Amino acid sequence: MSKKLRWGILSTASIGLRKVIPGLQRAELCSVDAIASRSLAKAQSAASKLGIPKAYGSYQELLADPEIDAIYNPLPNQMHVPWTAKAAEAGKHVLCEKPIAMSAAEARTLLDVRARTGVKIGEAFMIRTHLQWIRVQQLLGEGRVGALRAVGGFFSYHNTDPANIRNLVECGGGALLDIGCYCIHVARHAFGRPPARVVALIDRDPAMHIDRLTSALLDFGGGHCIFTCSTQMVHYQRIQFLGARGRIEVEIPFNAPQGSPSRLFIDDGSDVTGRGISIETIPGCDQYAEQGDAFARAVLEGVELPVPIEDAIANMAAIDAVFRSAKTGQWESPES
Ligand SMILES: NC(=O)c1ccc[n+]([C@@H]2O[C@H](COP(=O)([O-])OP(=O)(O)OC[C@H]3O[C@@H](n4cnc5c(N)ncnc54)[C@H](OP(=O)(O)O)[C@@H]3O)[C@@H](O)[C@H]2O)c1
Repeated sequence: MSKKLRWGILSTASIGLRKVIPGLQRAELCSVDAIASRSLAKAQSAASKLGIPKAYGSYQELLADPEIDAIYNPLPNQMHVPWTAKAAEAGKHVLCEKPIAMSAAEARTLLDVRARTGVKIGEAFMIRTHLQWIRVQQLLGEGRVGALRAVGGFFSYHNTDPANIRNLVECGGGALLDIGCYCIHVARHAFGRPPARVVALIDRDPAMHIDRLTSALLDFGGGHCIFTCSTQMVHYQRIQFLGARGRIEVEIPFNAPQGSPSRLFIDDGSDVTGRGISIETIPGCDQYAEQGDAFARAVLEGVELPVPIEDAIANMAAIDAVFRSAKTGQWESPES
């Protein structure tokens, strides 16, 4: 294997063209060597705009390229597991977009695929490698807020385009799979364990049937998470961690502007008007470049992936439980 991990990009997905490919191209241990699309013209156009040497008119041709080590899979959600499995069977390592699957049961099938093929398979929760989240985990670990009691947050945007994959049930659309997954992910990592049970409310779009407004309460045993996510609400994102003695607020938790500093508000709880808040400024960071290098290190040096399949399954299990609870109106436990 060459010194850099040679990536092939599965599709001309917007997130790939806008963020992930430029990030991989900036990363130290990565090169982007090929892109595939269902349309050769689209692949060629993306390749020429982004300076990618090879363009393919089908996903299979990319998987058959012996000069590609790893595949980035940003296909619509229902195609995540099928194409991750195909790429792995072709001997490629795979970084698959979140959510890794449509359900925990589907995500679990990747364990067999990984065991059979021996490749690395990771979920692209790019926030894991952002410096601000590394710092939040460090502060929580040091007990800066005391014992963690509550995680609370919002993540929302407004998108009613009926052609967007986020508004198509068959593509795994809806707020919970698209953005609520982040709230669950950060809460699980903050508490260091899965929720024991969850209760949730979902409001579905009457025409598109996707969940457009989802709120959930996650019981971590001695700590709670409460979040609301929406595809038809003001564009906003904020997460707070409240402990027995202090509070950490992440100003722009998920789409921190690339390269610009980000801010954590750390409240010692001494003054309700905010005089006890100190602002910690985190240096600018490209979370997509960091994600690429972390994945490359896992392949080239054998270190653990930031988000391995086991972690992805735990997140999907909590997501499944939120969907179940919204249907039954009861507390539901994630399946282990
Ligand atoms: N981590 C992040 O920051 C982040 C941000 C946004 C989205 N995402 C994730 O990335 C994935 C893609 O999101 P996106 O907004 O970039 O999607 P998108 O622009 O709609 O791209 C999806 C791509 O999949 C291909 N495709 C194959 N079959 C398709 C079908 N039946 N319908 C639609 N597209 C099909 C298309 O590429 P070709 O035409 O080239 O084949 C299309 O461009 C989702 O899983 C989403 O959750 C992650």
